[in-house]
Parts: sequence; C-alpha cells; structure tokens
Amino acid sequence: MGNTESAIVGDYGNAGLGERILSKLQSFGMDTDNLTQEMLAEVDHIHGGGYLNTTEHAGLVKLEPEMAVLDIGCGIGGPARYFANAFGCRVTGIDLTEEYVNVAAMLTERCGLGDRVEFKCANALDLPFDDASFDVVFCLNVTMNIEDRTGFYAEVQPHLKKL
Ligand SMILES: C[S@@+](CC[C@H](N)C(=O)[O-])C[C@H]1O[C@@H](n2cnc3c(N)ncnc32)[C@H](O)[C@@H]1O
Repeated sequence: MGNTESAIVGDYGNAGLGERILSKLQSFGMDTDNLTQEMLAEVDHIHGGGYLNTTEHAGLVKLEPEMAVLDIGCGIGGPARYFANAFGCRVTGIDLTEEYVNVAAMLTERCGLGDRVEFKCANALDLPFDDASFDVVFCLNVTMNIEDRTGFYAEVQPHLKKL
C-alpha cells in the first residue's frame, strides 16, 4: 500500500467500529440480529447529504433487478444495501479500509441482504474484476481522496458493460 492509501486507511480506519455501532443500535432498542436496511439508513450513508442524497443518485439511473452494480469506496455499505433492497439488483462494494468492509459485510448479513450484496477490500485504482462486469458504477463522496482522477476513470470505464 502506498503513502496515500495508508493515509486514507489511517483516516477512516476505526478499530472496534462494528461493536460500537451494534452497541449504539441496541441502546436505541433495535434488535441487531434482525436489522433492516431502512433501520440503518440514518447512520450508514457516510456523506453530507446522507440517505436522501443516495436515493437521489439512484434516481439518476434506472436500476433493475438483473443489474450488477459496483459501489466504489462503499464505506460501511449503506448505499450498497439501499440499491439492493430498493431495486433488487446485485451489488458489489469495494473499499480500501478493511475495517469498513468487515462492518459492511456484518451489517448486510444482519439485514438479510447477504445473498445480493458482497464486499471486498480493494483499491479504486486497481479493481479486482473482469472487464464488462457491471451495468452501473456508483462512487459516492470518494474521489476527493483520489489524486489521480484520470487514472481512476480510466480504471473504471472498462469494467462497465457496453450499451
Ligand atoms: C466519505 S466515505 C464514503 C463512503 C460511502 N461511499 C458512503 O457514501 O457511505 C469515503 C470512502 O472512500 C474510501 N476510499 C478512499 N480512497 C479509496 C480508494 N482509492 N479505493 C477504495 N476506497 C477508497 C474510504 O476508505 C472511505 O470508506
């Protein structure tokens, strides 16, 4: 991992995050073994506009159940769970921060969405997928961390299916 990537993980990484989230949800009286995407919506979209902003982004494209969606820099998986739950599509989330990926997978299992949403720890600049694997790519509040934007878009483009 290079200096930039280490700095990003250092900024976002947060040991024990999953336990703290579950404990906080339990303190609100939530049954953390039976969560839903909607129950988490106020806390799991890590960008200024939150859940509403994610729904607005989803509204820019016509998501369909048979689609494969990639969410780059998925954080703890809020947007990925929303896309899968609201539209029935299959979603793959990737993030550089391993702690976030682990929390994303844990919350997704507890929401019963593990059959449609998966997560991998990976760098947006080196995507571990075959070309033409995805119908739609989202990247919400991530590119401010990526200096090489030209390289980023050049990396993403071949992973989209041709129209
Ligand atoms: C502000 S959070 C947004 C998370 C998520 N998109 C959301 O809206 O809930 C930015 C995320 O981008 C990730 N990130 C930054 N640079 C990345 C890179 N080069 N590759 C993959 N993920 C990256 C961080 O680890 C962090 O989880």
